[in-house]
Amino acid sequence: MNTNYILSDTFEKMRNYLNTNNQEGIATVKYQSPANLRTSIDFAINETGISENEFLELIDSYLDHSVRTGNKQFFNQLYAGYNLPAFIGELITTLTNTSMYTYEVAPVATLIETEMIELMNQYTGYEKGDGIFVSGGSNANLIAMFSARNRIAPESRFLGYDRNQRLVAFVSDQAHYSFDTAANVLGIGSSQVIKIKSDEKGKMIPSELEKEIEASLIRGEKPFFVAATCATTLLGAYDPIHLLAPICKKHHIWLHADGSFGGSAILSKENSLLLKGIEQTDSFTWNPHKLMNIPLICSALLVKERGVLQHNITDINTDYIYHDIDYIEDLGKKSIQCGRRVDAVKLWFAWKYYGKKGYEARIDRLFHMAQYAETLVNNSERLQLMAPRQSFSVCFRYKPTIETNIDAFNLELRESLRKSGKSIVNYGYLNNELVIRLVAANGELSHEDIDEFFFNIINIGHMLEAEKNETTK
Ligand SMILES: Cc1ncc(COP(=O)(O)O)c(C=O)c1O
Repeated sequence: MNTNYILSDTFEKMRNYLNTNNQEGIATVKYQSPANLRTSIDFAINETGISENEFLELIDSYLDHSVRTGNKQFFNQLYAGYNLPAFIGELITTLTNTSMYTYEVAPVATLIETEMIELMNQYTGYEKGDGIFVSGGSNANLIAMFSARNRIAPESRFLGYDRNQRLVAFVSDQAHYSFDTAANVLGIGSSQVIKIKSDEKGKMIPSELEKEIEASLIRGEKPFFVAATCATTLLGAYDPIHLLAPICKKHHIWLHADGSFGGSAILSKENSLLLKGIEQTDSFTWNPHKLMNIPLICSALLVKERGVLQHNITDINTDYIYHDIDYIEDLGKKSIQCGRRVDAVKLWFAWKYYGKKGYEARIDRLFHMAQYAETLVNNSERLQLMAPRQSFSVCFRYKPTIETNIDAFNLELRESLRKSGKSIVNYGYLNNELVIRLVAANGELSHEDIDEFFFNIINIGHMLEAEKNETTK
């Protein structure tokens, strides 16, 4: 392959893609059904390979049919947008292709990851903290539960987990499903994850937690893990860590904070009170790949006590990797992975570029944009706010003026919007009612972007109403 030719053409395509990401008329996605998409791109690998020009065409096809998550009408997930310094960090990471296990093969990246973990621990208030970059928030939650299990049942490391111990974990009824998966993976069993009632804002109710812990003790079980969510996936609610911490302390339970979505609020002086008490937790999942707009994956698990992570990993004979010759801690010894992507470098590039103040301003902007969206919903006759806004998410739905099933109508509206390519937004169910969830996750959103989104929603809502009126005539 001709490096110069391929690279200059590829970079030109990337530049073009990025420059047009938010151009007027650019679709968030050129929607195609799976069957049609299969006919638009030749996915099969053939015997003889393809030419360089055909290779370059594949790049066009891929870009052309992918969802533009960097477009400011992409509101579908808890991540969005595009961050140039971080993107360059990602390219440099791939260019130098190494693995995070040792200083020997990743000297700069090892020091960068160490620096990032220290900085994140400072924000968290873990004075003797530790941490590791992992392959996503779900995995960070798994390792947090793993650490808690090994604290209460240290023999599990060698003998396996003994079900007679009857370990029980507690999360709110709004928590992410990754805790069920974690309990499943760790042999504890997902039915041992008790869901604690949340209030009308979606926050865990501390007295309910206390009640469930006591009931569990009466049943002869061993409560070992509580996860507070900051912020919940649908409503963006923050569980009251400072009220949960004394309960966990009293019962010697590991308290974890799942900040996969909203952990980055800690960067904002104005809003970090949402995580009040975070320094009293034992571990904290913080996902820069969501609200810090770092390309996926960029996710850290922080722990309060140095050494905890390494202690969890059984000391297998690894003298073919870890030689202990550089007088520095090899980070791989704290990880359940062997080969591990360099995910800290892109965060470092971005944080270096924007600085602490720059990032604080980006997070504050997200709060502000979500607040603006909430105001627009409240001021619109056609829209209904489905829950009070807590942070970055606004859950609402369209109120049709015609007799119709509102859930079905909103689902149709969301699907028409997605397929139109004008905006893309997700939905979920709150008390069995469908809600459309707008998330302010792109640090460069403006009021005009939010205006455009609601213009699109209302426009499509009107069109659907008109169509339905027509068919009932
Ligand atoms: C509250 C919460 N926890 C955990 C996760 C999982 O994070 P990840 O997607 O990085 O695995 C999510 C993802 O949306 C989340 O919202």
